[in-house]
Amino acid sequence: MWNAVLYKEKHSFVFEYGNSLIDWLKPQTGEVILDLGCGTGELTAQLAESGAQVTGVDASAEMVASATEHYPQVSFEVADATTFALPQQYDAIFSNATLHWVREKEKAIERMHVHLKPGGRLVAEFGGKGNVQHITSAVKRAMQQRGYDCPDVWYFPSPAEYATLLEKAGFRIDRIHFFDRPTKLEDPTTGISTWLNMFGHLFFINIPENDRTSIIEQVQQELTPVLTKEDGNLYADYVRLRVSAVKN
Ligand code: BEZ
Repeated sequence: MWNAVLYKEKHSFVFEYGNSLIDWLKPQTGEVILDLGCGTGELTAQLAESGAQVTGVDASAEMVASATEHYPQVSFEVADATTFALPQQYDAIFSNATLHWVREKEKAIERMHVHLKPGGRLVAEFGGKGNVQHITSAVKRAMQQRGYDCPDVWYFPSPAEYATLLEKAGFRIDRIHFFDRPTKLEDPTTGISTWLNMFGHLFFINIPENDRTSIIEQVQQELTPVLTKEDGNLYADYVRLRVSAVKN
């Protein structure tokens, strides 16, 4: 399902943007830190450079295999955000571009809370309310025109919704930011198709290959004029939710 090579080569913005999230975490030498949803491990390895002892976990065995191959000095494990059970508690949990995949969000929040020491920090960024709205609306239209229901595949909460869930679970909110982050796609003519092939697989689980191809082509055609900016590049309409919270 996940293609670690396509991810590293054409969607490196995911971990490049994650650098500034590390500034929110301020990892310290000697801390034990969990990177939840580590993907191909770039940010996990950067966290480890601070002198912290870092473990990266990801639900995709392919991503974990790629991370282990490229960063043998860091420890990685396959684990799901809703069920992970590790033998220790952490000083901090870091999570970039992962929690929007977790529709059972209360379970992930509970797991993160259990795995933090009292006073431990959670620093996470993921898609917020309205994220990739142009893309999801165009996919939905194209699917409905062909007689398919479009499933809800991601969780993009508002800051108020996510803060409330964290508070209910026993976190105190330190800061929360909600902002537009138009994200340049790799190729001005095929960027949306490539993005959908990388990230949109859950839309197309029960859809025959020929319909999937024509839906993706239609979305690319429809959105090229909408998402192309003056510099000639295509930008996906990302909206981010960034949160720092502390376990009570
Ligand atoms: C995001 O980073 O916002 C994102 C990535 C893939 C799918 C959906 C959202």
